[in-house]
Amino acid sequence: MPLPNEFIEQVRDANEITSVISSYISLKRAGRDSVCLCPFHSEKTPSCHIYTDTQSFYCFGCGAGGDVINFIRLIEHLDYLESVKFLAQRANIPMPEDSFDKRAEAKQRMLEINRRAARFFRDILISEKGLPGRRYLQQRQLSGNTIRKYGLGYVPDSWDTLKKYMLSEGYTEQELLDAALLAKKDSHSYDKFRNRVMFPIIDRRGNIIGFGGRTLEPDAPAKYLNSDETLVFHKRNSLFSLNFAKNTKEKYLILCEGYMDVISLNQAGFDNAVATLGTAITPEQARLMRQYCEEVVISYDSDGAGQKATMKAINLLGEAGIEARVLQMSGAKDPDEYVKKYGADGFRLLLEKSGGAISFELKKLAVGLDMDAPEGKSSYLKKAVNLLAAINNKIDRMVYINDTAKLCGLSAGEIEKAVEEKRKILAYTARKNEAKELINPPKKPRDGFVPSSQLSPQEKAQRGIIAFMMHSPDLLPKIEKRITENDFSNEFCQKLYQGTARRIKNGISVDLSSLGDEFSAQEMGKITGIINENNLLPYQKERLEEYIRVLENHRDRYGGKKPSELSEEEMLKEMELIRKKIGG
Ligand code: GTP
Ligand code: MN
Repeated sequence: MPLPNEFIEQVRDANEITSVISSYISLKRAGRDSVCLCPFHSEKTPSCHIYTDTQSFYCFGCGAGGDVINFIRLIEHLDYLESVKFLAQRANIPMPEDSFDKRAEAKQRMLEINRRAARFFRDILISEKGLPGRRYLQQRQLSGNTIRKYGLGYVPDSWDTLKKYMLSEGYTEQELLDAALLAKKDSHSYDKFRNRVMFPIIDRRGNIIGFGGRTLEPDAPAKYLNSDETLVFHKRNSLFSLNFAKNTKEKYLILCEGYMDVISLNQAGFDNAVATLGTAITPEQARLMRQYCEEVVISYDSDGAGQKATMKAINLLGEAGIEARVLQMSGAKDPDEYVKKYGADGFRLLLEKSGGAISFELKKLAVGLDMDAPEGKSSYLKKAVNLLAAINNKIDRMVYINDTAKLCGLSAGEIEKAVEEKRKILAYTARKNEAKELINPPKKPRDGFVPSSQLSPQEKAQRGIIAFMMHSPDLLPKIEKRITENDFSNEFCQKLYQGTARRIKNGISVDLSSLGDEFSAQEMGKITGIINENNLLPYQKERLEEYIRVLENHRDRYGGKKPSELSEEEMLKEMELIRKKIGG
C-alpha cells in the first residue's frame, strides 16, 4: 500500500531540509542557500548544495541529491518507507493507520526471532550439551569475555534442536524458514545449522540480522555456513563487528577476511577490525566504511587467494574515496594466527609498516620474475610503466618512478620518459572514446556519475525535455507530437520520461517527492541533477524547441541506421563534426 501523497507532503513540510542536514554535517550559509562537504563522497572543498526554495540538495561532485526523504535514505541506509517513517517520527507526525507497515512489522518479528535463536545458541554453549563448542573455542584461545562480547553460541549435531525450541516458543515453521534458520528438502524442514559454533551478525543499531556458523567437523563440506539473504540480512551491505568498530578511537578500520580474525584482533585490543561475510568486498561495504573512516588497512590472508582479493579491495576502496593500505604478513596465514603467534605488539608493528596501495601493486608485479636477469627486469618495467602512467597526481607519480628506478638500477629520467609517453597514449585513447561515445551514446547509464558539462548533446536534450515536462506538464501533448520514448537512447532518461508522462496523464503533479517510491536513492540524485541543470536557464519555448530538434536530427541523420552500421567515412565525418562542436 503506497502512502498517500498528502501524507508525504506533510512529512516533507515538517522537516525543513536545511535543519535536517545540519544535524548530520556542519553547513556554511551561501545567500539563501547552504553548502557543505558532501557526506556521500570524500572531498576537501564543499560541493554539496542545499536549496531552500526547492527543498532539495545536490552534490556537484558525486551526483547525490534529492529531497529531504532521499537524504535520509542515503545517510541512514533506509529504504523509502523507512525514511518517511523516520522523518514522521522526527516531526511527531503519527503514521497513517494502515497495513503499509506490514513489512516493517515482519522485519521486527524476524529480528526478534534472531535474538531468540542467538540467546538459545548461547545458552546451549554454557550448558552440558555445549561441551564440544566450549572445547573448540578454548582451543582457539578465546576468553570467556570475548565469547560473551560477541554473543557466541553452539548448536549440537541434530536436525531439530532449534526447530523444536522455536516452535515451542510460538514461532511458526514458515517464520523460521523465512529467517533462514531452517532449510527445507521436499516438504520437510530441518535445522540449517548443525554441530557448529555460532557467530551472531549484528548491525550498527545492535540488531542481530543473521548468523555465521563454523563446523566442528574436520571434513564437513562447508567450513563456514552463513545465513541466506532474508528480509533483514543483506550480505552486501553488512560488515561483521562494525557494531564495535564504529565506536573505535582509531582513525582507520582493519579489513579482514574471517570472523575469527576479527574476534582475535578484538581480543588483542584492536577494536577497529571488521570482516566481510564470506563474500568478496562490495561497493556498498566500501561506502559503509567510508562513513566511519578515511583509511582502511587491508589485512587479508597471506595466501594467493587473499592477495588476489587484496587487489580487488584496493580498487573498490579507492572508488569509495578511502585510502587503502595493505598489511603484509609472513610467518602466519591470517591475522588470527599472527596475533596469537606474535602478540598484539607484533601485529601493531605490521600495522605501522603497512604501506600504500601503489607500493603493494608495484611489489606484486615482481612476483615470479627473476629481477637479476635482463628478461625479468624488462618484463617488470613494461608492467610498471603501465601502472605508473595511471597515477594522476604528478608528485605521487615521481615518488613511485624513483622507487622503481632504484629497484631496477636505472635512472629515474628514463622511466619518466616512458611513463609520460604512455600517458599521452592513454589521453589520446580517452579522447577518442569520448568522441565515439558522443556519436553513439551508451544505451546503459554510465556507472560513474557524469557532470552535466560532459554530457553529449543528445543526452542534454533528453534531460532538458524531461525537465520541461516537470516544469510545465501542459507541454506534454506538444512534446509527444514530435518525439516518442524511442528517441530517448539513454535507458535511464527513457524510464524517467515514461514515468513522468504517465504521472502527468494521471493528473499527478510531478515533483521530486512524487517520484521517490518508484526511483532508487541513486536515481533520485540523477533526477535532482536534471532539474538543477535546467533550473539555471530560463524555461523558454525556444530552448525546448532546440532540444526536440537535437533528437529529431539525430533520428533523421542516421535514417534509422545504428551508429555501428555507419561506414568508416560517415563515422569519421561525424567525429569531425562533433569535435568542432566540443572544441576539442
Ligand atoms: P578458521 O579455520 O575458523 O580460522 O577460518 P578462517 O577465519 O581462517 O576462515 P577462512 O580464511 O577459511 O575463510 C574466511 C571467511 O570466509 C570465513 O570467516 C567465512 O566468512 C568465509 N568462509 C570460509 N569457508 C567458507 C565456506 O565453506 N562457505 C562459505 N559460505 N563461507 C566460507
Ligand atoms: Mn583462520
